[in-house]
Amino acid sequence: IEAALADGPLKGRHVIVTSGPTHEPIDPVRYIANRSSGAQGTALARALVALGADVTFITGPADVPPPAGVNLVRVQTARQMKEAVEAALPADAAVFAAAVADWRVASESASKIKKDGKGSLPVLEFAENPDILAGVSRMKQGRPALVVGFAAETDDVIAHATAKRARKGCDWIVANDVSPETGIMGGSENAVTLIREDGAESWPRMGKDQVANRLAQEIAEALS
Ligand code: CTP
Ligand code: CA
Repeated sequence: IEAALADGPLKGRHVIVTSGPTHEPIDPVRYIANRSSGAQGTALARALVALGADVTFITGPADVPPPAGVNLVRVQTARQMKEAVEAALPADAAVFAAAVADWRVASESASKIKKDGKGSLPVLEFAENPDILAGVSRMKQGRPALVVGFAAETDDVIAHATAKRARKGCDWIVANDVSPETGIMGGSENAVTLIREDGAESWPRMGKDQVANRLAQEIAEALS
């Protein structure tokens, strides 16, 4: 196996992959998060390893176990994920599959917030988390040659994702439709559209492992 990996098209290439949700603490027992199993990011990291890449896998608290053969970094919050990405640079490619919480609670409570018994409700103030993908995409020095984002959208998926690619400054966006009727969210299959500067390419619905293999191939080609 070692010999096969050593001959892969991504041999000697360093790829950063973020995956899973982030958890933003409210108090010691509560957090806010996005829905994300981590399955697609994990499958992608595994596919990149299979092509010989040196993968730094930065994951929030995901449902699925991390892949073998990666340099594993576990984080909880968006800010920790950003720090881990920065510490992992430089890289030839960076793929941002994580479902990062857009907001955190402005000031985490060190004590558990208690009901007061009179039905009054806590008011949480939020702060916006740093956009990790946009930060890396816009690096002036040491930017990875290929920066790939994901976009889980509803409604006009391709239009939303195309605008997002431009806004963030990344090279590619892997878009998918997560409307409830697609059954994609939480399932083992995915139907994605790969959006590059020169247009959008919709792939047929397939297993997340197959999406991962195909995307890893595209990444290898782009870096070759
Ligand atoms: N992302 C990131 N850091 C954030 C938010 C998002 O790195 N703070 C990355 C995600 O990993 C993904 C891409 O940006 O690759 C798009 O995430 P998405 O949530 O779709 O983008 P947003 O700009 O947060 O837009 P929206 O308002 O649709 O949530
Ligand atoms: Ca978001």
